[in-house]
Amino acid sequence: MQNNRGNFSKIGFIMAAAGSAVGLGNLWRFPYAVGENGGGVFVLIYLISVVVIALPVLMAEVTLGRFTGKNPVGAFNAIKPGSPWKFVGYLGVASGLMILSFYAVIAGGAVGYFFKALTGQFKGMASESAIASNAATEAYQSFAGNGVLQIFLLAIFIILTVYVVSKGVSGGIEKYSKILMPALIGILFLLLFRSLTLEGASKGVAFYIKPDWSALKPSVIINAMGQAFFSLSLGMGTMITYGSYVSKKENIPSATKWIAVFDTGIAIMAGFIIFPAIFSLGMQDVSGPGTMFNVLPVLFDKMPGGMVFGPLFFLLLSIAALTSTISILEVPVAFCIDEKKWDRKKASIIVGAIALAIGVPCALSESFLGVWSTIWGGLSLSIGALFVAIFIGFSWKTPNALKEMYQGADNFKGAKVWSFAIKYIAPVFILAILLSSFLL
Ligand code: PHE
Repeated sequence: MQNNRGNFSKIGFIMAAAGSAVGLGNLWRFPYAVGENGGGVFVLIYLISVVVIALPVLMAEVTLGRFTGKNPVGAFNAIKPGSPWKFVGYLGVASGLMILSFYAVIAGGAVGYFFKALTGQFKGMASESAIASNAATEAYQSFAGNGVLQIFLLAIFIILTVYVVSKGVSGGIEKYSKILMPALIGILFLLLFRSLTLEGASKGVAFYIKPDWSALKPSVIINAMGQAFFSLSLGMGTMITYGSYVSKKENIPSATKWIAVFDTGIAIMAGFIIFPAIFSLGMQDVSGPGTMFNVLPVLFDKMPGGMVFGPLFFLLLSIAALTSTISILEVPVAFCIDEKKWDRKKASIIVGAIALAIGVPCALSESFLGVWSTIWGGLSLSIGALFVAIFIGFSWKTPNALKEMYQGADNFKGAKVWSFAIKYIAPVFILAILLSSFLL
């Protein structure tokens, strides 16, 4: 099938897909998930999930998207017309709406923290008395508890996202995805250095990298796997949709491998920043969705140049979040354009407005947001990924997928391994993990 709906340029796809993958999932969700799921065991299972399950699914989604040139609903329909497979696409469209609704609240929080940092509000957060009185945590709680402000920031972020998506693939998405990532990584290295050189940092490092097997529960495994899908933007059709804009010359196996390495590297780095700081500074009450916002202001206050790096970091984080929300909104929008024949602008505005409405409860309650994130950001993505794997393995069938994958990648050596992973490893493991978390 030919793909004539506007393409990414060669470097554009890697940048856009990496921009989708790298975001709050790495810097906000990953560290707090590690904290809530027992530390090192979670990290280990997360890494295994990335390599043996998520990466094969990533290759599969991009390939399916490029072959069909369609949004997720259209993609399943193009290969098996009229079959119930299209409901997997619908699930993805629904997940996109739901994920956008809570994700944009946290992204709005990053924008808010940019202004806090800019106006010097982290000053003094690292003093002994401030740490003893949990000043940073309290500041975050009063920020997160200000419903009007949260809804305002949520609305700003949705409007920004709608603006970029309404401009289309090459005009909007690509342009914004190409810049600024190196700057973000630069600041992460500075933070990493600051955190690891704090006195007593090693306790945090130990919590982070030494698996404590007694913490292992089915919920830890399912959350780790869900986080792998979330972080790589899988299970809801984002990568199918982005794949639909990829040219036939693109080397899908190699591009996706780099995306996975890059995305995982940044998440792992985030943990090395957050945990040494928590442990060495003896911070209390920093768990849950507020973790990042509780810890980083203290670190910036404790770091030379923090007055500059603090605002810069939250600015770049907001942009990283934007390149992700763009890719989330793009799924329901592409669906409305392809299947409902709406124009791009109308689709972006209407879908954005719905996400804004659904986001209001998340803006008003952090615990609701946490539940929403677990259900839509983890569970539903795992179910989506399960069906993608079964579809590619047994309905479309791997030789057909490989034929598509070889275009632009005639030297691809992992065909057998990939086929085995997508047909057997991914479905069996995802199903077993899902069932065990319901039954045990
Ligand atoms: N991968 C993004 C992140 O880590 C979030 C995301 C999830 C984007 C699902 C698209 C689809 O921030």
